[in-house]
Amino acid sequence: MPAYDNTSLVSGADQTVCVTGAGGFIASWLVKLLLEKGYTVRGTLRNPEDPKNGHLKELEGAKERLTLHKVDLLDLKSIQSVIHGCHGVFHTASPVTDNPEEMLEPAINGTKNVIIASAEAKVRRVVFTSSIGTVYMNPNTSRDVVVDESYWSDLEHCKNTKNWYCYGKTVAEQSAWDIAKENQVDLVVVNPVLVLGPLLQSTVNANTYVLMLPCTVVKLLKFWPSIFLSIHFLPSVQMKRIQG
Ligand SMILES: NC(=O)c1ccc[n+]([C@@H]2O[C@H](COP(=O)([O-])OP(=O)(O)OC[C@H]3O[C@@H](n4cnc5c(N)ncnc54)[C@H](OP(=O)(O)O)[C@@H]3O)[C@@H](O)[C@H]2O)c1
Repeated sequence: MPAYDNTSLVSGADQTVCVTGAGGFIASWLVKLLLEKGYTVRGTLRNPEDPKNGHLKELEGAKERLTLHKVDLLDLKSIQSVIHGCHGVFHTASPVTDNPEEMLEPAINGTKNVIIASAEAKVRRVVFTSSIGTVYMNPNTSRDVVVDESYWSDLEHCKNTKNWYCYGKTVAEQSAWDIAKENQVDLVVVNPVLVLGPLLQSTVNANTYVLMLPCTVVKLLKFWPSIFLSIHFLPSVQMKRIQG
């Protein structure tokens, strides 16, 4: 696996950024990278005392520049207090599940709260980790087209197929854009397909776990046949983890 290259990133000295869901797979790498570049990082967690988040405290620069905050994304006040004074926000926290009761409220209202708090704090930029699931889950989208920001998943289709993850992420992203436009927030949305690789944390994250299940592969092939190549390397990645 190629090593990541962070040499082109600007220095983060004197800049404070917030990373929501800091203990997650993607967020942990983000925190590591930001600390390496000199940023002061405020990580939000549901439970900072949970041993599964212990790896964050071991990161280089963590002792000096990382603080971990217990935040309930559904409580605007709790997220406001952490984002206040930040130059930037990386919003990655989200359930990764098709259970509508677990998925919808935190994904949608949690994201709304993050954008509202960012607007109030006048942060310079918000980067929201959305998903290809907000773009591609639409029976009217030809599998041959290159999708861009003008494409959206079809909410009725998501509902009918009980794809509550894509439904929640789609509504969350649409709400994020609406609130950002109303409040002049500089919002950047990233729509990853599959993000796999070495885990910094001691537990397997939801996405990696779900993606390893044979039934997931069948589901992906059914709904997204054209991304098969993207998951093709998955067993070899897993083998490397086992050997490591
Ligand atoms: N990995 C991928 O292939 C992929 C692809 C497309 C999009 N994404 C998106 O990228 C982001 C990060 O994904 P990941 O793969 O790094 O997943 P992950 O390791 O499961 O991380 C998800 C994070 O969200 C937090 N979270 C879950 N439910 C929450 C809730 N109800 N309230 C507050 N926080 C909650 C988790 O905290 P706990 O540790 O407390 O559960 C965890 O920190 C997500 O928004 C996901 O939708 C990932």
